[in-house]
Amino acid sequence: MARLIYNTATTLDGYLADDSDSLDWLFAVPGAAEAESAFPAFLENIGALVMGSTTYEWVYDHEDLATHPEKWGYGDRFSLVLTTRALPLVDGANLRLHAGSVRDAWAMLVEAAGGRDVWVIGGGDVVGQFADAGLLDEIRVSVAPVTLGSGKPLLPRVLGSDRLTLESVGKAGQFAELVYSVGRRSAESTGASDA
Ligand SMILES: NC(=O)c1ccc[n+]([C@@H]2O[C@H](COP(=O)([O-])OP(=O)(O)OC[C@H]3O[C@@H](n4cnc5c(N)ncnc54)[C@H](OP(=O)(O)O)[C@@H]3O)[C@@H](O)[C@H]2O)c1
Repeated sequence: MARLIYNTATTLDGYLADDSDSLDWLFAVPGAAEAESAFPAFLENIGALVMGSTTYEWVYDHEDLATHPEKWGYGDRFSLVLTTRALPLVDGANLRLHAGSVRDAWAMLVEAAGGRDVWVIGGGDVVGQFADAGLLDEIRVSVAPVTLGSGKPLLPRVLGSDRLTLESVGKAGQFAELVYSVGRRSAESTGASDA
């Protein structure tokens, strides 16, 4: 059974990006390479991934994927972008646009993942939509030694300590690596059934 994992870097005060969608604060952290060393092992067990359109557009522009589609970083994994717009795709990427329910998205993601896990890259509200549907299983955050005061939130939802269990704590360079499991709400309270 595929699990849905939110894996991201965040500031200490809980932002994914600044108000202008910049990640300069992240790239400025010393020792970022050391912090990324565990990432290939994480990606190995990911069969599909999903992200919101702002995140996709950041990657598309940052990597200049229109000109350099070979820089698409997720191989041939099925990748879903949630959007109501007709965004440009990346040549050769296994990429699809989806508008609407994350529950419909989940069905596609699980099938494409072929038994491996699904990575929800962000942003925070997209992760929140999956959490609302009772589909989020794990949160992995790399906390940077940075505060921004404002920006794009990590997870703008209420998830109490009855839902979150701290599973591990690590240190990678200047980053604190925290892993939480997320308890699913009962089918009765969400109207949802596990996919
Ligand atoms: N620190 C990190 O490692 C990290 C990780 C992830 C993201 N980020 C950054 O954090 C920022 C996240 O921005 P964000 O949270 O504002 O945006 P986002 O989640 O990336 O994108 C939000 C947009 O996705 C579309 N969307 C969301 N749910 C949808 C649904 N169910 N159906 C159809 N469309 C849907 C909507 O736009 P449209 O319909 O208009 O397309 C919505 O405005 C970005 O700058 C990203 O680069 C950083």
